Amino acid sequence: MGDGYSFVVVANRLPVDRTTGEDGGQQWTRSPGGLVSALAPIARTSGGAWVGWTGAADDDTGPQEVDGIQLRPVPLSAQDVDQYYEGQSNSTIWPLFHDLVEQPVHRREWRQAYEAVNRRFAEATAEVAADGATVWVHDYQLLLVPAMLRSLRPDLRIGFFLHIPFPPVELFMQLPRRAELLRGLLGADLVGFQRPLAAQNFLQLAGRLLGLQPHDDRVCYEGRTVVARAFPISIDVGEIDRLAADPDVQLESERLRADLGDNRRLLLGVDRLDYTKGIEQRVEAFGELLAEGAVSNDEVVLVQVATPSRMRVAQYQQLRERVEREVGRINGEYGAVGRVPVHYLFQSRSPEELVALYLATDVMLVTPLRDGMNLVAKEFVAARRDELGALVLSEFTGAAAELDDAFLVNPHDVEDLKRGMVAALDAPPDERAVRMRRMRARVHGHDVDRWARQFLATLDDPDRAET
Ligand code: F6P
Repeated sequence: MGDGYSFVVVANRLPVDRTTGEDGGQQWTRSPGGLVSALAPIARTSGGAWVGWTGAADDDTGPQEVDGIQLRPVPLSAQDVDQYYEGQSNSTIWPLFHDLVEQPVHRREWRQAYEAVNRRFAEATAEVAADGATVWVHDYQLLLVPAMLRSLRPDLRIGFFLHIPFPPVELFMQLPRRAELLRGLLGADLVGFQRPLAAQNFLQLAGRLLGLQPHDDRVCYEGRTVVARAFPISIDVGEIDRLAADPDVQLESERLRADLGDNRRLLLGVDRLDYTKGIEQRVEAFGELLAEGAVSNDEVVLVQVATPSRMRVAQYQQLRERVEREVGRINGEYGAVGRVPVHYLFQSRSPEELVALYLATDVMLVTPLRDGMNLVAKEFVAARRDELGALVLSEFTGAAAELDDAFLVNPHDVEDLKRGMVAALDAPPDERAVRMRRMRARVHGHDVDRWARQFLATLDDPDRAET
């Protein structure tokens, strides 16, 4: 215990992807993404480790060092993946925490698997953490870990950050074994959320469910103080800026524009194929604009990148079918040979390819029905060094609280979606530039590194940290 790591990140996934090396052999490389780039330097300089799953079932990969980070894999069997990850995490908690955008499924065996896997994560962390170490647990897959870890290692300083929304009390109350989940989170010293409202929901719940008496941003639980505060996550602004300045990326962007038709204006959506993202409603709104003649296939084109995600979960398969049917219908009705209105890509794209798309875009559509933050919106803004391009953004994203210079829409209302899209297309260039400049200033002042440092400083001392 004494020789362990003084900083440990615990997340469902390890920050690595399995790739094929030049010699044809399998190797691990660091995943792209803001969270990893923010935490990797901290983990490296403070003697840190990362506890998580490799992403493959029945994978017996042992401890590894990748890019200076010590990885401690927690293996999951095919049944664990089915019950803990696809079941309780992504078919129960995920839809319920996203305001019941889809109906949550409740199964006793999923709850048991969730508890057993959370215990394994807690045990793996207890084994690698040094005396008095700081441990940072992430997200809804691991809600029970803080309390489990505290009972194994009361010497640790434990932080928890929820990347997705935290539901209002009435919704949380629907969860079977709800008090246990709440007690899981109360095992932390600091519980971080994307938005102040989520922190309030959590504190109210502690009052309602356990009879605790929150005051300000904290609550006393089992003789300790648990602080609940908002820390809106962000992106690695420098990395997106570097990609946007890369001549190869710019060339790719010009090629994309030429391929899509230089005289057509490009609308872009980039999302995981998830029912929370509002892809269906967005495509429907675009189809209606074409049907009404508000836009034409000669003037505009929609590119929708839908990254495959959780595809073994029935609700995701059904969503895919519905989206693909609607895209087919729209292209069939309004397309011409060599010129379709919707380019739908059910594919993952590299960060370079995504930034090239952002640079080619006239109107970025980020219209989730519910989203904790939405980093695509921030990436798009960070990429637009030219201060061009408009952002249509759902009011139901965490990002809307910061990027209120976007064209804000209610994605549950197709008429409002259409209004937002047309307003963004029609806005005069100088109005778009003013909006973009303000949004860029916000994103530049709040990148993911600052987010991580604020969280960790607050965990260290909630009363001294700058808010
Ligand atoms: O938004 C929540 C989240 O878990 C992210 O942290 C993650 O990048 C994304 O969803 C993808 O989820 P999964 O690990 O299920 O592929």
